[in-house]
Amino acid sequence: MWILVVAIVALVAFYARTPKTKIPKYKGDGWFSFLADAEAYSMRPIELLNRATAQCGNVFSIQVLTVYNVFLRGNELNKAYLEVREDVWSFGGGMGIFINKILDDGYFDNLRTLVGSLSRYINRASAQEYTARCTTIEAEKTADAIAAQKDVALFDTVSGMAHKIIVRTLMGEDFYAVADELLDILHDMESDIGSLYSFILPSWVPHPPARRLEAARQRFKKIFFDMLERRGEFLGEKASDAPDYVAYTMTDKTTVPLKHYMPSHHTVLMFAAHTSTVASIAWNLVSMLRNPEVLARVQADLRSDGGDDLLLQACIKETGRYYAGIKTLRLAKQEIKVPGTDLTVPKGAVVSIAPYLTHHDPANWASPQVWDPSRWIDTATNELVVPDNTKGASGLKYIPFGYGSHRCVGEKMAGIIVTGALTTILRDYDIAWATPETPDSVDFTCLDFDKIGTPWLKGDVRVKLTKRE
Ligand code: HEM
Repeated sequence: MWILVVAIVALVAFYARTPKTKIPKYKGDGWFSFLADAEAYSMRPIELLNRATAQCGNVFSIQVLTVYNVFLRGNELNKAYLEVREDVWSFGGGMGIFINKILDDGYFDNLRTLVGSLSRYINRASAQEYTARCTTIEAEKTADAIAAQKDVALFDTVSGMAHKIIVRTLMGEDFYAVADELLDILHDMESDIGSLYSFILPSWVPHPPARRLEAARQRFKKIFFDMLERRGEFLGEKASDAPDYVAYTMTDKTTVPLKHYMPSHHTVLMFAAHTSTVASIAWNLVSMLRNPEVLARVQADLRSDGGDDLLLQACIKETGRYYAGIKTLRLAKQEIKVPGTDLTVPKGAVVSIAPYLTHHDPANWASPQVWDPSRWIDTATNELVVPDNTKGASGLKYIPFGYGSHRCVGEKMAGIIVTGALTTILRDYDIAWATPETPDSVDFTCLDFDKIGTPWLKGDVRVKLTKRE
């Protein structure tokens, strides 16, 4: 009898010590809602997350087959989430769910050192000048190639251009020779990483996308080390002081001992730098084409003496608001309460916020569904409006580049590439839809959220360019 009493007391004490309130679980309709939810999660996430918020409030979970995903909504929770420590909600663990199969074991343990070296490289004036130079050269080449054709698929073409800029800048002029093969590898990896198998099955299950990803990882590694071995052949005496990031990491004392992780690092960078940069350039062009009066003013500004780019910068800011990622990923390494609530996120959960929805919340932005660059221009000073994410703000309503310890380290470089490419295209070429019917035949709300980062347009859209005399 006394054993029973002790057991009951112990149980009561245990639960009294660890009061846990469960995260409200989103419930879809019908018996097979779990399948419909998984489908909506990958095909129509905006709709699914809005429904879940309406049903459960600002904190909820969605069971996507084997994955338990907790979502936090609202500006305050955005900030709290992005400030949570790596050993609690892990960025490497979250991204790893998708990309571990293309990385060498232990890569994420060295992320801080590797990202630190990238940050130092990007902050050098010489790296920024080199990026700007590569951007102008590649943008001109691409625009001339478009002008020589009847019309082209916009996102696809910008993808080729951005990839070449990134390869030259981060890997070097010598890697340019293999840029096309690297782009094929990147596209193959993208489609297999986005596969539902990759998300829901553990990494040790050898499903077809996992096997292809392993083959792509090995191929990229071989190309990378072969090119490094032949660097002297390509670059001659200049090899040691080449302006690219690979050369920088070969002399930076923090990264020299991590040479074996460089293929993984450059794989991550191909992804991190590519998807969102392409999206920014392409969506800016699409949005201006859909707003011809803005397009005309941007062109006139850029073509004027001195080349004023205030409105272009406002367009870039507004495009960063309008087209943002639908979810970030963190893996819960330990059980912890959602800040400011009594709800507990269990260990092993995937934890996310939804920047796209924050950027389309009418409480944050007047007429959020309208793409309106003028909201970024302070008419009193004729300067760009600074987003109110400054220190001390209680929440975050503008997070195109994230916030906190994993805030985008490539923001400066992205700014140079996006501004440079758009300036070259809009100043020196006239742009138009492929045909007058093109805009009516495209559903611009069909966003492709399969990629990690900013969505692209499903099915793409065709445009043409004419070089100005
Ligand atoms: C318009 C283009 C870009 C956008 C919108 C963008 C956006 C972002 C965002 C939102 C994050 C944080 C993700 C999170 O918290 O889960 C991030 C992280 C990161 N980005 Fe970017 N990015 C862009 C371009 C680039 C470029 C060009 C590079 C490389 C040169 C880059 C490298 C990285 C890296 C390495 C991280 C991880 C940083 C860390 O863990 O400390 N990004 N980016």
